[in-house]
Amino acid sequence: MLLDKLSLRNLRNIREANLQLNNRTNVIIGENAAGKTTLLEAIDILSRGRSFRTNKSEDLIQHGGTSLYIGGTLGESNKKLEIEKKQNKTKILVDGKEENRQSRLAEQLAVQTIHPNSHGLIEGPPSERRAFIDWGLFHVEHSYKNEWSKYVKILRQRNEALKMRDPEADAWMKQLAPLGERISLLRENYVEGLKKHIEETQKLIMPDLEVVLAYEKGWEKEKPFIEALESKKTTDQEKGFTGCGPQNADIKILLKNKEAQKISSRGQQKIIANIMLLSQSKDFFDKKGFPSIILVDDLSAELTLEIQERILERLFETRSQIFLTALNDSVLAEILCEINAGLFHVEHGEITQ
Ligand SMILES: Nc1ncnc2c1ncn2[C@@H]1O[C@H](COP(=O)(O)OP(=O)(O)O)[C@@H](O)[C@H]1O
Ligand SMILES: [Mg+2]
Repeated sequence: MLLDKLSLRNLRNIREANLQLNNRTNVIIGENAAGKTTLLEAIDILSRGRSFRTNKSEDLIQHGGTSLYIGGTLGESNKKLEIEKKQNKTKILVDGKEENRQSRLAEQLAVQTIHPNSHGLIEGPPSERRAFIDWGLFHVEHSYKNEWSKYVKILRQRNEALKMRDPEADAWMKQLAPLGERISLLRENYVEGLKKHIEETQKLIMPDLEVVLAYEKGWEKEKPFIEALESKKTTDQEKGFTGCGPQNADIKILLKNKEAQKISSRGQQKIIANIMLLSQSKDFFDKKGFPSIILVDDLSAELTLEIQERILERLFETRSQIFLTALNDSVLAEILCEINAGLFHVEHGEITQ
């Protein structure tokens, strides 16, 4: 769903803003430290309860204040999503009704972010790549969230039992195995489904850079999960936790047949991250029939103008609702000001439309 209106109170240096958004492209322009990234963070927080910059409420609440508020109205359905954060408490409302799960907001608002640290998707820990897959599956595969929470619950119980040297650990292991297989299959299929978009996007953005993704499920390739668990039983008992399974999965990213993590430059990693995220939003649109929201913070960092232009072209093709930031008087700002978009100027936390 697309965001039609956005209201903020006491988010970092933005004391108050009430914005009417463009349903395709929104361009946010301002000097350094004006509050551009903060505006993007607001949308991320409304979806996930935290932002790509921090998960600490105290960083986000305006200095001297005790709470922050973000409200959004969705296009078409006119549904109202609200979040209020205090130091140790988050309140979520959907159409005025209090909800206790953040996922109630995320279900309505599928937000992806491309920011100056997006190269972490390539060189960061496996958890970053699992989060990438899980974002996609959460939105496009109905059963996934449920299966995953069941898996995590049983995993926790098995780990407890392993720590206590409780023989029940074996029984938990048997329950864990079929769930782990199902999660793994869903993830494998998801990554497989992204391949055609990755190939296409990569050819358009950087034709001489072949990127291939391979899902690694967290245990030996050819073995059923139960066999892998059986074979690691003694080590698991010694260590007091389950050492293999989807909780250890990863995506291997190959660049011209070599591990991207090891051989690619920072700039290349950023390009690959962009390719992955753009492919994911294409896949999202194909499967859901409506677009996601993409936040792009400071696209220019470490990318040539030519690459930025190709990424922009591709971004617009995803049909997503896009929010882009650019520095005053930058070349990127010049390009963005020429397209048909909602334009927001930010100055010391004041936003003018
Ligand atoms: N909790 C806070 N309360 C008040 N101001 C804050 C808070 N956190 C950050 N800031 C300030 O908000 C400003 C906006 O930052 P940011 O959104 O990163 O700007 P931009 O992306 O335009 O460079 C900065 O000047 C920063 O010091
Ligand atoms: Mg910024």
